[in-house]
Amino acid sequence: MSRDAGALGPEPRPGGTGAAVPTSTRVVEIDGLTFGYAETEQPPLDGFTLSIERGEFACILGPSGCGKSTLLGILSGLFTPQRGRVTVDGTLLYEEGRRVTREAPAMGYVFQDPRLLPWRKVRQNVELALRAARVPQSEWDERVQRYLDMCGIGRLAGSWPGNLSGGQRQRVAITRALAIEPTLVLMDEPFSTLDEVTARFLRRELLEVWERTGQTIVFVTHSIREAVYLGDNVYVMTAGPGKVLERRPIGVPRPRAYEDPHLTEIEADMVDWVLRQWGFYEDPGRKGSP
Ligand SMILES: Nc1ncnc2c1ncn2[C@@H]1O[C@H](COP(=O)(O)OP(=O)(O)O)[C@@H](O)[C@H]1O
Ligand SMILES: [Mg+2]
Repeated sequence: MSRDAGALGPEPRPGGTGAAVPTSTRVVEIDGLTFGYAETEQPPLDGFTLSIERGEFACILGPSGCGKSTLLGILSGLFTPQRGRVTVDGTLLYEEGRRVTREAPAMGYVFQDPRLLPWRKVRQNVELALRAARVPQSEWDERVQRYLDMCGIGRLAGSWPGNLSGGQRQRVAITRALAIEPTLVLMDEPFSTLDEVTARFLRRELLEVWERTGQTIVFVTHSIREAVYLGDNVYVMTAGPGKVLERRPIGVPRPRAYEDPHLTEIEADMVDWVLRQWGFYEDPGRKGSP
C-alpha cells in the first residue's frame, strides 16, 4: 500500500473540512467542538474541526497548553465537549454537549510515561489490555508474542518493567496499544522524555510497525521535525483557543530518512509559518531567525 501522503488529498484544507473525501474513509470526524474545563475560563478548544482518514498517520502539532492532550481526552471518552459533534469510525460519540454512546470503538493509548504496572511482567501488562478489550483468552499467547516481536522486544516477555530501560518500557506501552488491534491509536508525545538517539530509533520502528498493521494513528507532538518525519499530514493547531489552522500534507515518499534534506526544507518552511501563526513575529525586534 502506498503511504505517500499525496494519495490522501491533493490540496491542504483548513481543519479537514473539504468535501472531496467520502465520509466512509474517515475514521475521526470532529466538527465545531468546544470544550472548557471550567465555565469561567477560556475553553482550550473552541470551534475545533478535524477529520482523519483510515490508515492515516496524523500528527497534531501545537504549542504547549493549546489543548492537544485535552483533544485526546475527548476522543478517549474522558471529557464530554460542551458543543460539537465527534464521530469515530462511524460511531457518534458526542453531540451538542452529551455523550451519545458508551460503546466507543476500541482505542489504544501511548502517553509520555509508559504507565506499566510494575508488579506485572511485560507479558501480563499486555494481557491486561487484551482482557479489557475482550480479546478471547485463547488468542492471547500468539497475539502478545506477535506484537512484542513486531516492536523488537520479543525476548522481554518475561521481564519486570523495573528492569527495563526507558526506551524498552515505551516499546511495551506501544505493544500494549497496538496488540488490541484498535480502530484508532492515540499517542501523546510518546518520545518526548526519551534521549534523542532512542527517540529516533523508536520513531523509525513505529513507522515500520504502522506500515505493517495499517492502523490509524493520531500522534500529538510539539516537535515540528518529529511531525514532519512521521506524518502523512500535519494538523497545525493555534496557540489558543485551540483550532486546527491548517492540514499540511507531507508528500515525501516512505521510507523516510530522519536527516533527509527534503524534510529539513519542509521543516524550515513550517517553522517559519508556524512562528508567524503562533505570534512569535509580532515584535518587529524579533524578526529573523529565532
Ligand atoms: N484538568 C484540567 N483542569 C483545568 N484546566 C486544565 C486541565 N488540564 C489542562 N488544563 C488547561 O487546558 C489547557 C490545555 O491543556 P492541554 O490539553 O494539556 O495542552 P497541551 O497538551 O497542548 O499542552 C491548558 O491551559 C491547561 O492548563
Ligand atoms: Mg499535553
